[in-house]
Amino acid sequence: MDQSTISSKRLNGKVALITGAASGFGKSTARLFVQHGARVVLADVQDNLAQPLCKELGSEETVSYIHCDVTRDSDVKEAVDFAVERYGKLDIMYNNAGITGQMDPTILGTNGENFKKVFEVNVYGGFLGAKHAARVMIPNRSGVILFTSSVASVNSGESPHAYAMSKHAVVGLMRNLCVELGEFGIRVNSVSPGAIATPLLRNALGFTEKELEEVVRSSAILKGVVATAEDVAEAALYLCSDESRVISGHNLVVDGGYSTANRSFSAAVITKLSSDFQG
Ligand SMILES: NC(=O)c1ccc[n+]([C@@H]2O[C@H](COP(=O)([O-])OP(=O)(O)OC[C@H]3O[C@@H](n4cnc5c(N)ncnc54)[C@H](O)[C@@H]3O)[C@@H](O)[C@H]2O)c1
Repeated sequence: MDQSTISSKRLNGKVALITGAASGFGKSTARLFVQHGARVVLADVQDNLAQPLCKELGSEETVSYIHCDVTRDSDVKEAVDFAVERYGKLDIMYNNAGITGQMDPTILGTNGENFKKVFEVNVYGGFLGAKHAARVMIPNRSGVILFTSSVASVNSGESPHAYAMSKHAVVGLMRNLCVELGEFGIRVNSVSPGAIATPLLRNALGFTEKELEEVVRSSAILKGVVATAEDVAEAALYLCSDESRVISGHNLVVDGGYSTANRSFSAAVITKLSSDFQG
């Protein structure tokens, strides 16, 4: 890359729309994107959280909030049109809103209504975001579409079925879109975080932030660091900035190597050896 184009503000002049921006990863990413010179539209259903956040992040010239339920086509259309009307274009669409749904991990305990709700938010919501973003990005022949998937897209058996399936589907959509939209200079990627103590996971498990961070710390492969929402925001910044200008179709796993490991065999060997030793 031409060194003269590298700026300390990595999103100077860009316009971004972030769904699920009132909390967790969306909130941290909105803050980081504003710090890096982007004008940002926050989209969420939690007006009570997003409105004060919006004021905290800057004036209307830089950051705005729009109520947007990602499962409603008209809301997503309006959010994209709002970004273009207010800031003149849309460079970055970050489809991040998501829910865990019920936490019962069993197939027999997975009810149909929950399954549909998880898919409606996590998959259909992302699809609508991509569709409306593509509508305005294709004529400009540039843009970045980013999704939040999950470590559940690469690691099985630790999430409820509906959630795991929805996050695989997000990666499938991301890859398919990468192929279709490459022709128009539009890059499409996803980030797949491991467990991080945002309200989503804290509420799903009924843990405090401290309790959840302790569980994350003890199960981590990479020691000495506990991932936060800011780490996901940094990954999103990279994938949305020109520094990743030839990266498309990539699912960037942000989990400190967690999903590379399955140590249940060696754990079983250690258990057997210690029981043989004691016996
Ligand atoms: N926290 C984790 O451990 C973790 C790990 C991997 C992936 N994820 C994914 O990251 C994304 C962000 O989650 P988070 O952890 O920051 O959670 P969070 O609950 O802090 O934030 C999610 C936001 O999405 C919003 N949202 C939910 N349904 C919506 C809808 N229909 N329309 C618009 N907004 C809606 C919520 O209001 C909330 O502000 C989700 O897609 C989640 O599945 C989370």
